This record gives sequence, C-alpha cells and structure tokens, in this order.
Amino acid sequence: MATATATARKTNFNSLREFLTLLEERNLLHRITVPVEKDGEVGAICRENFDHEGPALLFEKVGQYRTPLLVGILATRERYALALGMEPTTQAISSKWRQAYAHPIKPRVVARSEAPCKEVVLDRVDLYGEPFPVPKWHEFDAGPELGTLHAVVTQDPETGWINVGNYRNQIFTSTEMGCYVLANPPRHIRAHWEKWKARGKAMPVAIAIGPEPYLNLTSVSAIPAQVDEYDIAGGLKGKPVEVVKAELSDLLVPAQAEIVLEGEMPIDKFWPTEGPFGEFLGFMGGTVKDSFYVEIKKVTHRRNPIFHGTYEGRPPNESTTVRVMGRSAAIFEHLRRAGLIGIKDVCATPAGCAGFHVVVSIKKSYPGQVRDVMGHVWGHPTLYCKHVTVVDEDIDPWNPFLVEWATSTRVQACRDVVTIPGGKSIWLDVSQVPSRRGESDLMGIDATNPVWEYAREGETFPQTADPTPEQIEKVRRRWKEYGFRP
Ligand SMILES: Cc1cc2nc3c(=O)[nH]c(=O)nc-3n(C[C@H](O)[C@H](O)[C@H](O)COP(=O)(O)O)c2cc1C
Repeated sequence: MATATATARKTNFNSLREFLTLLEERNLLHRITVPVEKDGEVGAICRENFDHEGPALLFEKVGQYRTPLLVGILATRERYALALGMEPTTQAISSKWRQAYAHPIKPRVVARSEAPCKEVVLDRVDLYGEPFPVPKWHEFDAGPELGTLHAVVTQDPETGWINVGNYRNQIFTSTEMGCYVLANPPRHIRAHWEKWKARGKAMPVAIAIGPEPYLNLTSVSAIPAQVDEYDIAGGLKGKPVEVVKAELSDLLVPAQAEIVLEGEMPIDKFWPTEGPFGEFLGFMGGTVKDSFYVEIKKVTHRRNPIFHGTYEGRPPNESTTVRVMGRSAAIFEHLRRAGLIGIKDVCATPAGCAGFHVVVSIKKSYPGQVRDVMGHVWGHPTLYCKHVTVVDEDIDPWNPFLVEWATSTRVQACRDVVTIPGGKSIWLDVSQVPSRRGESDLMGIDATNPVWEYAREGETFPQTADPTPEQIEKVRRRWKEYGFRP
C-alpha cells in the first residue's frame, strides 16, 4: 500500500467523490458489499473499526436502501492530512490551518447547471425514504440522526455573515427533523436565529450532506464569529469552494454536495423533546426539551448520491479527529488574535474529547505568562476547555508521554495547579452533578520549568540531560552507517 506521505501532493479536491477516488487508490476505503442492518449493526461496525484505526467504510447495502452510506473518511490523522494535501504530521496540518486563517478565499458562485447537487430535484420530501439510509447509530439513541458530519448553512439577515456549522438532526417525521444547538457556550446558528426572530420571519436553513471535504473540516472547528466558514474552507483548499443559490431562499449552498436539504427553522415553535443521543464524551446525552427543529421543504441531490455521516460515542473516532485538529487550530488563532506572545503550539487532546483538556506550549519570557495563557483558553467564546496544561517549547503538546513527563518533573501541585470554581462547560459533561450541569471547575497546570522560582533562590533550573542538537543531528546523519534501518 502506498503511504500517505507519497501521495500527500494531491490537493484541491473539488468534491467528496474526488477524495474517495484517492482513498480507494490508497486502500484507505473499504466497501462493505453484504447487506447490513441500518440500526445497531452499522454503529457496531463503526465502533470496532474506529477502535482499530480502520479504513473509511462505504456500506453499499444498508437495509432496503439503494443509496450507499459513507463513514470515516476523516477518522485518522493520515486521512485528514490527505484531504489537505499534506504530510500526515500535526505540524503540517497546523501550519495549513494558520495559512487558511491568514489567507481566506471567498467562495465562487456557480450557475445552477454547473452544480452537481441539483442534478436531481425530488418532487416530495421523505426523510425515511431515499436517499436517506440514516442509522440509529447507538443502541439507546432516540431515533435516526441524519446530520452527524455535514454542513448546516444559515445567514445573518443584517450583516450577510454566512455560518456553516455542524448541528445534528434527529428525524422526527418524514419532513421534520431536529437541530440540536448547544445553548451554552452559544453556537453561531443561534445568533442568526435570534436575528430572524427579531424580524418575525422563520429562518431559512440549508443542509449539505457530503460537501467538499474542506467544509466538513471547517463546520466543526469553532471558526470565529463574523468569519464565513466558506472563506476558511477556501483557504484550506487553496482555491474557492463552489457554491450555488438555493432553490427556496437566497442562501448559497455547497454546489458539489451529494445531497442538499432546504427548509426553515420556525421562530415561534419548538419540538417537545429531542434526544438522547450517544455523545462524543462516550456517554448517552440527555433529552432536550423545546428543541429547535427544521421543516424540510425541498431535497436536491447528485445522480446516484452517497449519503455521508459518522458514528460518535467515545474517542477514538472521526468526530474526535476532526474536532482535535480544527479546534487546536482555532484555539491557536484565538490566542494569536488576543495578542499573546510566545505561543508555540496547541493540542486539544484526543482523549480529552477534543476540548476538555488543552495543552499549550510556549516560549516563556515573563512571570505571569502561564496564567495569561490559561485565562485566554478558558475565555474562548465557544469552547469549554476546563483543563489547561501549559508546557515549555521543548515539550511537544501532541505527545502525551512528554506532557506527563513535564507534569511529573516540573510541577509542584500547591504552587503550579490552579483551580477555579464556576467556569463554563457544557451540560453534557457527566463529571458534573445534574443540578450544576453547564458549569465546571477549571484546572490549570503550569508544567513549565520553574525558572523564576529558582531565580528567587539565586539558582538556575537544571539543564536536561539530553545530547546536544548538534550531536543528535550527526547521529541521525550516520544512522545507516551504524547498521540500523533508517
Ligand atoms: C461529528 C460532530 C457532531 C457535532 N454535533 C453537534 C451538535 O449536534 N450540536 C452542536 O451544537 N454542536 C455539534 N458539534 C460541534 C459543532 O459543530 C462545532 O462546535 C462548531 O464549531 C459549531 O459551529 P459554530 O461555532 O459556527 O456555531 C459537532 C461536532 C462534530 C465533530
């Protein structure tokens, strides 16, 4: 099998299908050709596959459906990097994100005739029929969840700001589905909804399934308010993503998507209950009362569409991979915009469910800098990073072994561990008792060398016992000469 490194040059995929072709060429896509049960079996296969870092899966026969179901295209760092045309290293991926924030590219509006997502226009909507082989992913889910890794498009009616987020959609009836919008910290779609409500008009919503993969990366990645995800997706792609006017509104929808659903979110009516759903923490979430929902009025799709979704639940899985990479970049960007100096790298750790535990490496240059970093991470407006560990620049925040080494050798708990009551979290955080859900204690660990503390005693913190960089460089150069494999 060719390695991702060898293929990392291919970039600028215009569509999910182009990306699938590459995955298949690299043996990173597995077709399941035998019939599988939509509810239960699909989810169990995904769980096993994610636990073994398996390939992306294309289920060709889900129950009685003709439409195939695709899961896991971005589940590993290797495939995430491939989607970006990068080497499969966190450094390469992070630098691509930084470049996208620095150089966003506006989308290109194409004509209806150039938009594959309009090849077929359905006469009537049936969310239980084709092309929607939507599983009940986890055993105790309330129902089938249609939107798990997709792109929900709305627009601010005042400023024109377009938001493309990822908010799941439990199917309620053949034309109505939920839209689970986390209330705290507030999601951007909610800000748009408030504006439509103030105008007394239902909010137009479009939902793209299987858009250009760049949109899957941005829709889950805490892009700042007032910044269009389309522009950052263009920055990741290196050229504009393609959009086309929706059928029923002025929304611009991803032209290359497999399927587009259009409808409205009422401003004065709510669905009585939504959920529970098998959440990204690895526990069942609760039931939401008076949930947002969407009335679907139109469905368009490509010829022979592919339905795309993902299984959530505990890490490791695709949901975690996409959030880890995008949120680490988002926190870095947040710290950069705040003007903090010395930030070297950020990792929203995978086992920390891509947000509960964030490790930041810094070049330390002034006393109090570590607390500045912690405060700004806790202050991210849409994330809920309750545990923050700060390390020196010699520690790779993506390496949990080194992070624990730093924590063991540089930390005195009473001096370096800060706890603060009453910070923000999400109501899904099961570590909190039910009556206090939504708030959390915050913990910061200063795992940097205690240089100021040593200085106060007239001492310097000991040097590490490693060889010099020059010695390591020389040894690496001569590695083969010693008879080792490179
Ligand atoms: C697979 C997956 C599913 C998600 N589902 C939801 C969801 O149902 N509701 C929600 O509020 N956030 C969900 N998120 C997180 C948001 O998509 C993410 O925080 C995003 O940045 C929100 O967009 P916004 O910042 O523009 O509001 C999900 C993330 C992933 C990776």
